[in-house]
Amino acid sequence: MTMMKTSKTADRRSFILSSIFFICCLCTLASITEVRFDTLLRLGRCAVVENDSTSLSFNTNDTNTSLTQNSTSSEEDIRILIGILTLPDQYHKRHFLRLIYGTQSPAGAKVDVKFVFCNLTKEDQKVLVALEIMRYDDIMILNCKENMNKGKTYTYFSSLPEILNDTNSPNPPYHYVVKADDDTYFRLDNLVQSLRPLPREDLYYGYVIPCPSMDPFVRYMSGMGYMVSWDLVQWIRDSEIPRNNQEGPEDKIFGDWLRDGHKAKNRFNAKWSMYNFPEPKTGCTHELWPDTIAVHLLKNQEKWIRTLKFFNVTENLKPSKLYHIP
Ligand SMILES: *[C@@H]1O[C@H](CO)[C@@H](O)[C@H](O)[C@H]1NC(C)=O
Ligand SMILES: *[C@@H]1O[C@H](CO)[C@@H](O)[C@H](O)[C@H]1NC(C)=O
Ligand SMILES: *[C@@H]1O[C@H](CO)[C@@H](O)[C@H](O)[C@H]1NC(C)=O
Ligand SMILES: *[C@@H]1O[C@H](CO)[C@@H](O)[C@H](O)[C@H]1NC(C)=O
Ligand SMILES: *[C@@H]1O[C@H](CO)[C@@H](O)[C@H](O)[C@H]1NC(C)=O
Ligand SMILES: *[C@@H]1O[C@H](CO)[C@@H](O)[C@H](O)[C@H]1NC(C)=O
Repeated sequence: MTMMKTSKTADRRSFILSSIFFICCLCTLASITEVRFDTLLRLGRCAVVENDSTSLSFNTNDTNTSLTQNSTSSEEDIRILIGILTLPDQYHKRHFLRLIYGTQSPAGAKVDVKFVFCNLTKEDQKVLVALEIMRYDDIMILNCKENMNKGKTYTYFSSLPEILNDTNSPNPPYHYVVKADDDTYFRLDNLVQSLRPLPREDLYYGYVIPCPSMDPFVRYMSGMGYMVSWDLVQWIRDSEIPRNNQEGPEDKIFGDWLRDGHKAKNRFNAKWSMYNFPEPKTGCTHELWPDTIAVHLLKNQEKWIRTLKFFNVTENLKPSKLYHIP
């Protein structure tokens, strides 16, 4: 009798437990779907592309030049690729970053944000990542095995000339290529403005390491996000210097390639427009301030929210009877 009772209780307990588990699964699924829908509704795109005809109409005085040079306004736009190196399983991170970048549309520039990772390894990834690509087309899968300090950055840069080789597209496909962390917030308008006066060749741009240094010709740019011009991307593909030196701390090694190859005669230190989140305070942090291109080390939601609030990112939310956000 007692035996039976115990086993009944155990049965019930395991039934309750599995029910809870089942409900949790449902909730997770539902919340994922909701996020997807939400994103789907709010964003048309992640690749932030300025409308060609809009920019043309601003350029009335240049009409003559445009016609004689055959250039459309989109050819005058600065084209930037931001590759965010991440892992296939980071679905939520990608959805979040799509919100962050899909709501920015820098003037006079075409900024494509792509998520970059190595070969898929799990069956569910083959479905979920393929669906993401069908919906957003903002993913790049390189021919590599996920790794840290074993050449993912090399694979990224050196693969681009071939991946983006398309005779029907502008040449170069991008003027600048960025490698960014997924805990960095780039303000695209400010990024584009900072690039306008800079050369489009032989350029290495970022936040100089070590933190107190302001000299971009010593050492290297922080992995929070650095940028090179397209000619350097091609050089990385063609030169033996990077090919033979792929292992080790990726961002430091990147700087070593350029030093050893006597490359990047043009360098731009974006400090203190790029910096680590103010807390915890270190030699690499800076207060949030208006003249910001990038904030790094946004390791949790609270830090992201504080940053997004500071920059008033929702101030242009259009009024509607459909919602009320105080
Ligand atoms: C266009 O050109 C006219 C005549 O040269 C000049 O007066 C005007 O300020 C220019 N407009 C712009 C937006 O540059
Ligand atoms: C446009 O081109 C025509 C013919 O070449 C020239 O006469 C005119 O001054 C030009 N206008 C401007 C605004 O450059
Ligand atoms: C300008 O366009 C015309 C016709 O599309 C083409 O024949 C010509 O080669 C182009 N010129 C330049 C400099 O691209
Ligand atoms: C990555 O996947 C491709 C295609 O499935 C395969 O040919 C290649 O060998 C894989 N690369 C690595 C490093 O596993
Ligand atoms: C780009 O494509 C052209 C034509 O197919 C080819 O000749 C060239 O080698 C390719 N370049 C790269 C970097 O793949
Ligand atoms: C955000 O909005 C507030 C209130 O309008 C303003 O005082 C502040 O300067 C804005 N911050 C930035 C970074 O633009």
